[in-house]
Amino acid sequence: MLQAEGHLYEQLGQELADRIERGIYRPGDRLPGVRVLSRQLDVSVSTAVAAYRWLEDVGYVEARQRSGMYVRQRPTELLPQPGPSAPRSSPTPVTGQDMVLRLLKAANDPQVVQLGAAVPDPEYLPTASLERCITRSLRKHRLRALSYEFPPGLPELRRQIARRMTEAGCVMNPDELVITNGCQEALTLALRAVTKPGDVVAIESPTFYGLLQVIDSLGLEALEIPTDPQQGISVDALKLAIERWPVKACVVVPNFSNPLGFCMGDGRKRALVELLSEHGIPLIEDDVYGDLGFSKVRPSACKGLEPRADILYCASFSKTMAPGLRVGWIAPGRRHLERVEYLKYVTNLATSGALQLGVAELLESGRYERHLRQMRVDYSRAVTRMTDAVTRHFPPGTRVTRPSGGFVIWVELPGSVDTFELAGRALERGVSIAPGPVFSATQKYRNCMRLSCACHWDNRVERALLTLSQML
Ligand SMILES: Cc1ncc(COP(=O)(O)O)c(C=O)c1O
Repeated sequence: MLQAEGHLYEQLGQELADRIERGIYRPGDRLPGVRVLSRQLDVSVSTAVAAYRWLEDVGYVEARQRSGMYVRQRPTELLPQPGPSAPRSSPTPVTGQDMVLRLLKAANDPQVVQLGAAVPDPEYLPTASLERCITRSLRKHRLRALSYEFPPGLPELRRQIARRMTEAGCVMNPDELVITNGCQEALTLALRAVTKPGDVVAIESPTFYGLLQVIDSLGLEALEIPTDPQQGISVDALKLAIERWPVKACVVVPNFSNPLGFCMGDGRKRALVELLSEHGIPLIEDDVYGDLGFSKVRPSACKGLEPRADILYCASFSKTMAPGLRVGWIAPGRRHLERVEYLKYVTNLATSGALQLGVAELLESGRYERHLRQMRVDYSRAVTRMTDAVTRHFPPGTRVTRPSGGFVIWVELPGSVDTFELAGRALERGVSIAPGPVFSATQKYRNCMRLSCACHWDNRVERALLTLSQML
């Protein structure tokens, strides 16, 4: 009985929180009294009281003496953003990545509140449309769906992707694309095509750990370049690094980087491409978050701005459709195309034909664009909600990024906190976070962590943040 009641007040709390999120009640507005609320929602007065108490606990409302319940102002004092990074200035092998798999495995447990991996909760994904499209395409192409779809991959899918890439300014022929098992494979193929073991690769710092793992697995060395959380990789610092070290490739996530969330301006993107072109260094552009900006205008890709430059463009549908599809692609440019196709073939023969057909069907249906519009709003709200909660709960001196797209935030903690240790202890208490050191080849950023905001928001998440803040 108690549990049923618990569920009900929480559901009501969520419903009211949703009205606040949608702006039906705005900061400073008075909410209905408990009696009115209980009549409106047809629940007992005690359930209405419990729902308000829940909303108060999670920080949406505040009680004012003898006056009732009010929607809280959003924190007026925005937390400052972290400053530009200052990583080690020489190339180094990647260390410390074994920790990531351990964390990810543990975080697969449904009992754990998942704030660590950059994996959106299914509620953000077009699961029903995907299911329909995959089923329909399996029916339509029964035999084809089950055979090898050798590289470069399904022509219909490459056509749909080529159409979509025009939004990023890239005018591509479908023949210039190779379908891959997600963006991670696209990055691996790109690096294999342009480097050999022992080569130096320039990267943003901090950068997402998947890239560090690819660099590690290919026996390459990482050269971390200072990166500004608002503007991206420092082109000046990269220039100095290139003059000093034999850089063979540069990998960036220019649109809504992971973990910092910045979007590089077109001027900076052009300067970056120009610098690399001058030195004959290929740019590997990871645009996996490019469609996930919070404003209506889709940012350009470097490849769109400078179509003739040596750019290997990589992306996937992992953040916008579903990570488990493992469908991504690479546009490596004419000079690397044949090599990339061959490498894809000898690595794993093909990407699942059935899933390529399903993704192509969803793209063709037109429902994907509608879904993307909604997803951008949902991610933006999720980031605001998480940032507000961090502002409320975390100690003074905390700094946090203000991403303009995607769904992760980077938190810099005051003092000598060790987030490696914190992550282990938090996991014991059912909370997963991504500790700062895994975003660096040399395990820097000990006082930082990344939080994924695209989680199912309920009081478990608020409690998880409270737990973290108590541990801090
Ligand atoms: C910047 C970036 N690139 C690539 C990937 C990997 O994408 P996929 O799951 O499509 O392999 C991720 C996943 O977190 C990412 O954040």
